[in-house]
Amino acid sequence: MKFFIDTANLKDIQDANDLGILDGVTTNPSLMAKEGITGQENILNHYRAICKIVDGPVSAEVISTEFHGMIEEGEKLAALHPNIVVKIPMILEGIKAIKYFSAKGIKTNCTLVFSAGQALLAAKAGATYISPFLGRLDDVSTNGLDLIAQIRLIYDNYMFDTQILAASVRHPMHIINCAEIGSDVMTGPLSAIKALANHPLTDLGLKQFLADHAKGNK
Ligand code: G3P
Repeated sequence: MKFFIDTANLKDIQDANDLGILDGVTTNPSLMAKEGITGQENILNHYRAICKIVDGPVSAEVISTEFHGMIEEGEKLAALHPNIVVKIPMILEGIKAIKYFSAKGIKTNCTLVFSAGQALLAAKAGATYISPFLGRLDDVSTNGLDLIAQIRLIYDNYMFDTQILAASVRHPMHIINCAEIGSDVMTGPLSAIKALANHPLTDLGLKQFLADHAKGNK
């Protein structure tokens, strides 16, 4: 399973990349705003900065909600760096834009996916990735993991190339459950990625090893 980090924070991106296990980055307009990145030039420069840190796919989201606007924005984003993936919302205009980009060989990430029907439509349009929002489904008392499993089944039935990018991941169990289901990618915060390393028996065992080594080397 590929690990993407879901943030526009350059320090978190650098930290995750330094771990050596980072495969890519996803952002969205809310994450950019959270970092205080506003205005078209600043936003484009921020994507350039992210692409300098990580050698892997970087999702950059369009703001337009109609086909021509999405195409204009998406082409500008794609021209920034070969690793840019144009992130497009799961609306009918977005499906047309995904089809357009797919025909041109430009990679896309269909975002805001909350149902199997949406995932099917995006795959038929040729999306490179689809982003089902796991945590946001859990937030409304619907099991987000069930959706990931349903999409996995559908994509495997027809051998769709579209990759399932589990998004809105909130904690390490989401990551483990996504790996069990066979999600191609997960994107989550640095905290969830780092938390995978935690185990009290590891800490205890290491403490004991170091204490025993110190005793023997007095
Ligand atoms: O980038 C999309 C998604 O990962 C957002 O996550 O935590 O805002 O639901 P969240």
